[in-house]
This record gives sequence, structure tokens and C-alpha cells, in this order.
Amino acid sequence: MATEPQTAAKEKIVPATGKLGVMVVGLGAVATTFIAGVEAVRRGHALPIGSLTQMGTIRLGKRTDNRSPLVREFIPLAGLNDLVFTGWDIFEDNVYESAAHAKVLEKETLEQLKPYLESIKPLPAVFDQHYVKRLNGTHVKKGKSKRDLANQLIEEIRAFKKTVDRVVMIWCGSTEIFIEPGAVHQSVETFEKGLDSNDAGIAPSQIYAYAALSEGVPFANGAPNLTVDIPAMIDLSKKNSAPICGKDFKTGQTFMKTVLAPAFKARLLGVAGWYSTNILGNRDGEVLDDPESFKTKEESKLGVLDYILQPDLYPDLYKNIYHKVRINYYPPRGDNKEGWDNIDIFGWLGYPMQIKVDFLCRDSILAAPIALDLVLFLDLAKRTPELKSIGIQEWLSFYLKSPQTAPGLYPEHDLFIQSMKLKNTLRHIMGEDLITHLGLEYYD
Ligand SMILES: NC(=O)c1ccc[n+]([C@@H]2O[C@H](COP(=O)([O-])OP(=O)(O)OC[C@H]3O[C@@H](n4cnc5c(N)ncnc54)[C@H](O)[C@@H]3O)[C@@H](O)[C@H]2O)c1
Repeated sequence: MATEPQTAAKEKIVPATGKLGVMVVGLGAVATTFIAGVEAVRRGHALPIGSLTQMGTIRLGKRTDNRSPLVREFIPLAGLNDLVFTGWDIFEDNVYESAAHAKVLEKETLEQLKPYLESIKPLPAVFDQHYVKRLNGTHVKKGKSKRDLANQLIEEIRAFKKTVDRVVMIWCGSTEIFIEPGAVHQSVETFEKGLDSNDAGIAPSQIYAYAALSEGVPFANGAPNLTVDIPAMIDLSKKNSAPICGKDFKTGQTFMKTVLAPAFKARLLGVAGWYSTNILGNRDGEVLDDPESFKTKEESKLGVLDYILQPDLYPDLYKNIYHKVRINYYPPRGDNKEGWDNIDIFGWLGYPMQIKVDFLCRDSILAAPIALDLVLFLDLAKRTPELKSIGIQEWLSFYLKSPQTAPGLYPEHDLFIQSMKLKNTLRHIMGEDLITHLGLEYYD
């Protein structure tokens, strides 16, 4: 009998040797907390709490095998000492000045890192106030057209590439006005024509993303902006092996929502209403005070419940949910957001109950480890033969309020499904068995 041909050995993941350049768009509260935090960890001043790549472990094999290495020892990730930062902002403040303005990290922490943070000075930004009404920047590029601005960014990416071994770009800039996908976004060709004709449908975040993806640079999006969620960018991402993922860091209230809602569904408890409100006093809060930017955030925050609770499958439990999300700009709190949730649930025979959540969080403290993990994982994706040319990295949904998926596929918002998906992807690319939690083998 003829033997089956041997399947070719999997192509190897390219090792993470050398420097990883991180180009950060928007050096505000999140970005400076991320950069200063990485430097504090490098110097042994603090721990990278909240980062799966730095502190997480991953179980391999059976529960009885006792194999649970650190994630960063299991997969070939760039080390923190190899990260080199640069970025853009519409203000000239260096990272030290911007961090001091953001008031997230204590003065004492920033003083210890001052010379390093001062050395990172923003490049002039691609910016247009039409897309972020509450900001008025002075440190802004001039260009004849959107194409010209994209070319200027491409030149800066190329120059930075000469100083490092690999590059990733992450948007930590402001939330732009709500933009619906239109004709200009449908293909690389229409998008490029739009760059030439200054099409209003192309926002600054898309000019950065276009420049990154054209140069084969992976792109992460920390804001809810449309940015890469369009066919043109998905095509460019695949064509140039520049991985992308969803948008809007999943940090405070939505993080909680995507933990609680799956629990209600798992126990078949009904939800009549979910009222979420926030007070927030940082620059992000000020930008979101503009109704057009808030609309972008609102869409991102509202999406999660429908997908998790599946009202079409469970009409008796979830069809009539009243879901409301508010964000109120309240300067005294600065970055220390307070997010309240009132959840009206109902149980056996329809009897009502209430749950109140009051999350006194620190926005940028929650977002910084997410920015770090996204940068490291996108760089891993770019070095992984199986992942680098598929475009959307759905396994990174874990970090995002609005995961991006293949056309026609609904996103997974349940944090624990997302966590399993991420870890199984890591096991898969490293040739380890997936963990299904079936567990019957222990009872043979
Ligand atoms: N902190 C969180 O928990 C969290 C969670 C999810 C999403 N986000 C999003 O992350 C983004 C950053 O949040 P933040 O608190 O750091 O806000 P921030 O206002 O402190 O920082 C944003 C920075 O981006 C700059 N900027 C705006 N447009 C730019 C452009 N076109 N080019 C270059 N720079 C530009 C601004 O000048 C500012 O310095 C926001 O969009 C926010 O909605 C934050």
C-alpha cells in the first residue's frame, strides 16, 4: 500500500533578532504611559502588570504534564530592551513634557526617566481639524494633497527603518469623527485616487495606515476610528504582508461588559437594560465631548452586547434590551475615569434583579499594557509565515472593543473566547496541540 506523502515541515517563524522600531501616532496619555512604562520596566523600577506577553503563562499539553511556560519564553517575541520608540503629534511636546501634562504617572517616576523621555520628540503630524474638532495643533505637516502627506510619512518610515531591524506602527491618537465606509474605501485603486483628489472620506488616521501598510509595516489602532476597517486597507495588508487587527483598546467599561455579559448568557439570565455612564477629565474626554467624535466611540462601545447575547437566538432573554452608553467630560478626574454600570437582569419566572458596577479605573494604566502586547504580537505575526499575509489577525480581538473579522463573519466579543483563541493561535503556530478543554482522556 502506498504511503501517504509526508506533509512538508512547517516553515519556521523568523527569530526576533535586532531592534524593533515602534512608531506611535499621537504621543498623549496612553502613548507616554506606554513608553515611560516600558523604560521603567527595563530599568527594573516596576513590573509590566497587565501585559500577557510579559507576565502571562500558557499551558501546553495535558493538565497532568505540568508544562506552563511564560508566553515570552514559549514564542519568539521581541524583548523590551530591543524596543526603540519614535512618533508623531500635533503638539511639539517631547514625551517627558507630554507625560507631565497627562498627569497619569507620578512626578517622581517621570523625573527618574527624564533624559530618556525628553529624547523622544514628535515628528510633525498629518492632521486636519475637520476630523477632530476639539483639537487645534501647531506641529502639523503641510502638503499639496493627501497623497503628498502620505509620501512624507513614507519617507519618515523609510528613514526610521534604516536605524532598526523591523517596524510596527500603533495609533494612540485621538478619536476622529464618525465616518461610514464609502466608494473611496473599496479598493486600493479608489483609495489612491482619493489621496490624489483629497477625498473627504480619507481621515488622517487612514493616511498613516496607508503609509505603514504600503511599507509592509503592521498597524494597530487604539482608537475607534474607521482607519483600516475598509477593503482597501485589508487588501494592502495582505498584499504587503503587513498584519492589521481591530480597533479601540478594550480597557475599562467594555472590558467589564465582555466579562459580565457572557456570564449572564451562560446561565440564561435575561437582561432588560444596561445603562453605562462615565466621567473622564483627560484630553481624550475633551475630544469625546464633541458629538461627532463621541458617535465613533459610541458605535464601538454599543456593538458588544448584541454579538455576545445573540438576541435572535434568545429573544425571550435579550430581544428588548435598552442599552445606553454615555461619556461625560469632567476635568477634575483627569485620567482617572469612573465608569458606572446599572444592569437590570431577570431570572426564574421573570423576577427582576439589579447589578451595579462602579469601576474607578485609570484609563492609560489599563491601556498601556495593551499597546505593548499589540505591538509585540503584530511583530510576531509579521515574522510568522502562516499569519503574515492573511491581513486581519482575529486572534488579537482579545485587546479590542471592535475586533476586525473576515467579511461576513461576526466578531467574538466574549473575553474568555478571545483569550482561548489567542492562546490556541500561539500553540498552533508553535506546533503544540490545541487545548479544547474536553478532558475525557483523564477518565479512560
Ligand atoms: N485610555 C484608554 O483606556 C483608551 C481605551 C480605548 C481607546 N482609547 C483611545 O486611545 C486614544 C488615545 O487616548 P489618550 O487618552 O492617550 O488621548 P490623548 O488625547 O491624551 O492623546 C492623543 C494624542 O494624539 C494626538 N493626535 C491627535 N490627532 C493626531 C494626528 N492626526 N496625528 C498625530 N497625533 C495626533 C493628540 O495631540 C494627543 O496628544 C484615543 O483615541 C482614545 O479614545 C483609549
